[in-house]
Formats: sequence, structure tokens, C-alpha cells
Amino acid sequence: MPDVRVICAIGRSGQLGLDGGMPWEGCPERVYTEDVERFFEITRGHVLIAGPKTVASFPYFARKDRTIVEIRSADDPQTVLESFGERVVYIGGGPAVWDVYARYVRHWDINTLPYDGAADTWFDPAWLLAGGTTQR
Ligand SMILES: NC(=O)c1ccc[n+]([C@@H]2O[C@H](COP(=O)([O-])OP(=O)(O)OC[C@H]3O[C@@H](n4cnc5c(N)ncnc54)[C@H](OP(=O)(O)O)[C@@H]3O)[C@@H](O)[C@H]2O)c1
Repeated sequence: MPDVRVICAIGRSGQLGLDGGMPWEGCPERVYTEDVERFFEITRGHVLIAGPKTVASFPYFARKDRTIVEIRSADDPQTVLESFGERVVYIGGGPAVWDVYARYVRHWDINTLPYDGAADTWFDPAWLLAGGTTQR
């Protein structure tokens, strides 16, 4: 079974997404660009699996130095994860994906950004406690 992880960024009250993108998209402050840089640095060389909208949001260059795989609701999570052997696998979201895969996650890396605005997609703290029965 792989080492299953999550890296994500949330606003001050758990904002995750807005209109298919990050709620803070276009915010020029360094803290937001640093977050994107950190995401690509930490996932480099590893597997990144995510739902179709999240995969579509990754720039083309990101495919060169990490393995990006689109997952679908028809896929069996255990079979998906086992197919990556002992690699490090990041579950990229969105929320419907984390609802199902949170139970396999051992390590959550959550960057809280200084964003106070609108969102249509939210982080669910219950995901953090979902792994109790499946931890190695
Ligand atoms: N802030 C962050 O760090 C962060 C990270 C990720 C995403 N986001 C934001 O979240 C939003 C996109 O998320 P989203 O959830 O709307 O779309 P998404 O990325 O396409 O993920 C949801 C889709 O994944 C598929 N899926 C794959 N495996 C699944 C499973 N086992 N159970 C259920 N569904 C599964 C489903 O599509 P099918 O039924 O068609 O297969 C589902 O509709 C965007 O706004 C994005 O920017 C933010």
C-alpha cells in the first residue's frame, strides 16, 4: 500500500474552491504564489490523483515531474491506491474525492491562507479523523 497524503490550501474559514478554481485565484500577494510553488515542490516525483476538475486545473508543465492520474467515482479506491505500490500518493481532491479517500490518508499538509472571501467548496474537518481504522 502506498504512503497516502494530502496537500491542500484553505482560507481562514476553510474555503477550498470557487467557480471551479481556487477562491484566491488572481490575488497577487506573495503568500498565494508561495503556496503554489510549495505545492509543486512537495509533490515533485510523486503520484498525484484527483477528480476531473482538479486535474484539469493543473498546468501542463506539472505533468513532467510528477505522475498525475485522473480518478473517477466508478474506480475502487483500494485498487487505485494499490496500483501505485509503495510510492507516495497525494490525493488532490476535490471534496467528493476526499470524502472517500480520507480514510486512507496518513499525513495532511494544510496551508491556511489569509483569505476571508467567498467560496462554493469547503474543507470538512471530519476528513482528518476518517483514518482511524485504516492506519498502518
Ligand atoms: N484549495 C485546494 O487546495 C483545492 C484542492 C483541490 C480542489 N480544489 C477546488 O475544488 C473544486 C473542484 O472540486 P470538485 O469536487 O468540484 O471537482 P473534482 O476535482 O472533479 O472532484 C470531484 C469528482 O471526482 C470524481 N471522483 C473520483 N473518484 C471519486 C470517488 N471515489 N467518489 C466520488 N467522486 C469521485 C467524481 O467525478 P465522476 O463521478 O465524474 O467520476 C467527482 O464529481 C475547484 O474549485 C478546485 O479549485 C481546491
